[in-house]
Amino acid sequence: MNYQITLQPGQQQFSAHPEDTVLHAAQRVGIDLPYGCRNGLCGMCKARLLSGQIHYRQEAAGLTETERAEHYILCCSAQPRSDLTLSIAPVSPASPFQKRRTPVRVETIQRLNHDVLQVKLKLPDSIRFAFHAGQYIDFILKDGRRRSFSIASAPQDSTHIELHIRHIDGGRFTGEIFDHIKVDDLFRIEGPLGSFYLRDTSARPVILMAGGTGFAPLKSIIEDSLARGIPRLLYLYWGARGLRDLYQHALASDWATRHPQIRYIPVLSEPDPEDHWQGRTGLVHTAVAADFPDLSGYEVYGSGPPAMVYAGRDAFMHNHLPRHQYFSDAFEYAND
Ligand code: FES
Repeated sequence: MNYQITLQPGQQQFSAHPEDTVLHAAQRVGIDLPYGCRNGLCGMCKARLLSGQIHYRQEAAGLTETERAEHYILCCSAQPRSDLTLSIAPVSPASPFQKRRTPVRVETIQRLNHDVLQVKLKLPDSIRFAFHAGQYIDFILKDGRRRSFSIASAPQDSTHIELHIRHIDGGRFTGEIFDHIKVDDLFRIEGPLGSFYLRDTSARPVILMAGGTGFAPLKSIIEDSLARGIPRLLYLYWGARGLRDLYQHALASDWATRHPQIRYIPVLSEPDPEDHWQGRTGLVHTAVAADFPDLSGYEVYGSGPPAMVYAGRDAFMHNHLPRHQYFSDAFEYAND
């Protein structure tokens, strides 16, 4: 039995099976709701339940007690148990690029540092893979398990996809890939997916905030912007523990040296003595908030751990960033 879900304002409707999450059911019919981690952590998919009953398939840690009392739910984790009416605004029209499932071949593998692999996938000759810079794909293992990875390459190359795969302690999927992937292995992918991409509708300066491999989709956005000659000012803040964790620090520094519209601000939370670090220290979202006390005229794109994305959102709203000018992607830390 399916339930009917109605979104307000706008009265968009779609149906959902009791095993669907609200987010999945919406995405299936091309309705683009805001989301980040898809794991009940970041709170980015929050909506207000105006009527109906839901069940959580996992703990909704991304909600405060006050939000629960005010009937907010997390669309990435809530499954319908009746018809629902929700108050939530879709973030944008659905991506114009058709999601597809396709085989890919591993063309190259390169270790970028102690725990990040760069994997370049080759698409079949007959396929041109179109996507927005910043979107992600699902990587499907032979047994059907899947995991999401941001595309690190720019869409101008429609025959290859670059991924940055970090070894996550205790992560079965990433551990398997990290330890066993070989050149010429065949996999299937599905995509492009997600609503994390640079909005072209304004000329506002942009702050790109990355934590760890959250750098990957921002790399795609920067390379795409350079290829298209977009003149918007781009501030890249990249937060990591030590210098070795900024696994493409030289590349980011080079962008800033060659292109006056790009500023690069690396921020280390625990630099090693041997890093001889003279740059910014602390948490990356704190550095952004300190540098921009008034964010009302900016767009901010945050990509990385849910804690960073969530803390950044709160700090930036406090610095007058309108909610609709904050975009985030936090799925690396979704279920592994
Ligand atoms: S809590 Fe739902 S997307 Fe993060």
